[in-house]
Amino acid sequence: MRTTVGIIGAGPAGLLLARLLHRAGIESVVLEGRDRDYVEQRQRAGILEQGTVDVLRAAGAGDRMDREGLRHDGIELRFDRRRHRVDFPALTGGRSVTVYAQTEVCKDLIALRLEEGGPLLFEAEALAVEGAQSDRPRVAFRHQGREDVLECDYVVGCDGFRGVARRAFPAGVSRVFERSYPYAWLGILADVAPSHDELVYARHERGFALLSMRSPAVSRLYLQVPAGTEAGAWSDEAVWDELERRLETDDGWRLERGPVTQKSVTPMRSFVHEPMRHGRLFLAGDAAHIVPPTGAKGLNLAVGDVVTLARALAHERRTGSPELLDAYSATCLRRIWQAERFSYDMTTLLHRAPDATGFDARLQLARLERIASSRAAGTDLAEAYTGFPLG
Ligand code: FAD
Ligand code: DHB
Repeated sequence: MRTTVGIIGAGPAGLLLARLLHRAGIESVVLEGRDRDYVEQRQRAGILEQGTVDVLRAAGAGDRMDREGLRHDGIELRFDRRRHRVDFPALTGGRSVTVYAQTEVCKDLIALRLEEGGPLLFEAEALAVEGAQSDRPRVAFRHQGREDVLECDYVVGCDGFRGVARRAFPAGVSRVFERSYPYAWLGILADVAPSHDELVYARHERGFALLSMRSPAVSRLYLQVPAGTEAGAWSDEAVWDELERRLETDDGWRLERGPVTQKSVTPMRSFVHEPMRHGRLFLAGDAAHIVPPTGAKGLNLAVGDVVTLARALAHERRTGSPELLDAYSATCLRRIWQAERFSYDMTTLLHRAPDATGFDARLQLARLERIASSRAAGTDLAEAYTGFPLG
């Protein structure tokens, strides 16, 4: 098999890249290791930055998002049994975010890809990328039990944190910067109307809690738990009891409970692989970087990467100049490190480390007070949360 751009992975990064390339008249083949159902049902991100919404709309993938997505003009910070609202449009000159699940973004992009007739192979697992520094890089893959090779002009690894593309970077070229955290998120999906109309990020002596949503009838909630916790170790009732404790306020606010339909644990890490290009092999999205989920940045970073890459590939095709491809890694990394910084700040602002001292707790409260009382500090959070400019 032969194509111009071989894309490994049909998560948000791979699917959107294929869509953007199609719009630019560049052909691609997408190889996805799992089946369609798995990709469409995997519960993950829920928050789209303004820039992500604009990109999906411009790519012709925004119709259902515009109908069903929920525009949010702020978040609530909860600490000391009090609430503080961060008003995004007021602090950023009109920016907001949209609640629209990653599962729905993927469903919309898969439907468009199949409609436009572009190759998207499910259950096609990439085994290795070969010849990254040659003119004809290849992806060895296995589809329906048969081994095959995809020959390309370019290969893009959109294959997530555990993918194979990153392994094709020689040890002397790769540089990894990482940090793991001694806690994780236990997430539930519940058939109950959200108890608040905006997201609530809560700092509590017992640990972090987050109230989010998927629709006016479905709540998504997260609890900080120790790293290594098994989801099955928590009964539904224990999860609701703990959420109630950590989200409690002095003004009579109540958490509504409902049937839990899904429960899982997400580990937390910060990770950046530099550079994001080796010869004709590029990395995009979680394949190159991970942020802890507290700032809701992962999916949005993946979108930024593929927008930058699609623009660079189209530029090369149009003008013959590789200048934007040469700048790809540095351009993306500037935005990625800003998101790494913000995600780290949000995480350490709101979680309780197992070895936290009274001093650490007082500092967290002082940082939160500062955000609540200074327009400059509130603006800093609002600008980062609603999103840094794309490349
Ligand atoms: P992925 O979505 O991981 O997709 C990679 C794809 O590659 C997968 O489909 C995988 O099956 C496939 N693949 C892997 N290996 C191979 C192979 N060898 N061959 C073929 N295919 C392969 N981000 C936000 O922006 N906002 C949020 O609110 C948010 N909340 C989150 C909450 C949770 C609980 C979690 C876990 C994550 C959250 N994120 C959030 C992060 C976000 O989900 C990820 O950053 C995003 O999925 C990255 O997209 P991707 O396409 O790069 O990678
Ligand atoms: C969701 C996930 C996040 O990481 C976050 O910061 C906010 C919301 C969610 O899944 O809804």
